[in-house]
Amino acid sequence: MKHILSILLLAAVGMAQAQLIITPQPQQVTVDTTKFFSYNREQITMKNSPYNFVTLGTFDKQLGKEGYRLEVKESGILLVANSNIGLYYGQQTIRQIIAQFSPKPEIVKLPYLTIVDYPQYAYRGLHLDVCRHFYSKEVVMQYIDEMLRNKLNYFHWHLTDDQGWRIEIKRYPKLTEVGAWRTEADGSKHGGYYTQDDIREIVNYARERNITIIPEIEMPGHSSAAVAAYPWLSCSGDEIEVPNTYGIKKDIFCPTDSTFQFLKNVLDEVCELFPSPYIHIGGDEVPKAQWKQSSAVRALKQKENLKNYEQVQHYFMKTMDSYLSTKGKRSIGWGEVTRGGLSEQMIVMSWRGRYAGNKAANKGNSVIMAPRFTCYFDYPQSSKDKKQAWWMTYVPLEKVYKFNPNKKNKPQILGGQANLWTEYISNEAQLWYQLKPRVYALGEALWSGGKDYDAFVKKMEKLQLLNK
Ligand code: ACM
Repeated sequence: MKHILSILLLAAVGMAQAQLIITPQPQQVTVDTTKFFSYNREQITMKNSPYNFVTLGTFDKQLGKEGYRLEVKESGILLVANSNIGLYYGQQTIRQIIAQFSPKPEIVKLPYLTIVDYPQYAYRGLHLDVCRHFYSKEVVMQYIDEMLRNKLNYFHWHLTDDQGWRIEIKRYPKLTEVGAWRTEADGSKHGGYYTQDDIREIVNYARERNITIIPEIEMPGHSSAAVAAYPWLSCSGDEIEVPNTYGIKKDIFCPTDSTFQFLKNVLDEVCELFPSPYIHIGGDEVPKAQWKQSSAVRALKQKENLKNYEQVQHYFMKTMDSYLSTKGKRSIGWGEVTRGGLSEQMIVMSWRGRYAGNKAANKGNSVIMAPRFTCYFDYPQSSKDKKQAWWMTYVPLEKVYKFNPNKKNKPQILGGQANLWTEYISNEAQLWYQLKPRVYALGEALWSGGKDYDAFVKKMEKLQLLNK
């Protein structure tokens, strides 16, 4: 009899657990939804607050830097963490539980529970391309809100590309006067940019939510918008328009002293605006045709004893990586930066697959995994959606949920990231459609390891997030 009772009790606790809606799913939850702690906000004074926040230093090792322990019992709410970040994440979880159980805004009601929670990965990233289509400051802030809902902590902001330069640089006004605007095939204008004031506002908004913004200034490829503004940045010096078509463009930065000086001056302003320890400097999809025609590049190859054009690209990236390190920053580059050599400090973001990431990790470099077949949110989710370009594959929800950035348990792998390119995403409705609910699957994969897909789908249904 006793045995049967305890089985019944366990079943009840199990069912109750499934009812608790927290994103991402915490590492450990026990909950008893037959007992509640509740109070009326309006009747509580600071003195007899039902909250008890504790910061423990590094006493509770299991929680790490970002974890928290939450208990709700008769005596109130206890939240324990090693840092303010942990306390903050604990508060986010409390808010989600209150939203679920409290009948009115003035009532705070939570079931008795114990949650022990901490992330699997230190780097939990999401990217947004605002170059192919521009999105307003307000939309970027909503995007950051979605990140917080999933306890993601790095926002990779893709600010420059062929089709638009989106960050005001005081020293080079044409970057935005010319480079932020393009004429579409039908004659209409598309464009926009963020002023430095906008950027400071967004950086602060993110920082208040424990999100670090990593700006990306692309080089040496994907730089047509900058070349349209200042043609001397390319080896040909040709005057070009900001392109209105996609793909890989031939007009790229030339590895000359004047171009390097330009990029250093740009990065000076970027580093002033972004407190992030990391700056992304691109490095993907660099066609070398213009370099092959250039006497400046020929001279550089000879002077630096560079054997091929991949080594010229490495020289380019290394020059900028070294400059950033003098400013106390570390650079991140797309997987192609492993081809002609690899700077020691550089963090590699593996996107074509995992090959470049594993290669870099084997050399001891830090790595972020963002393999496109799992992590590209511009790709369609199912055959119901249109495949907009030949390079796309299906990236269904379950695949994202089961994303494991570190299959080989390498300590160099900091975590994972999903990328949202916007060549074919020209409006907000489409942006959210591509993002949700996959961002929830990403959050769970990176936080607690995507352990129960069926439970996750039920949770998405309850949150009315499933795409119908
Ligand atoms: C990329 O998707 N070209 C990094």
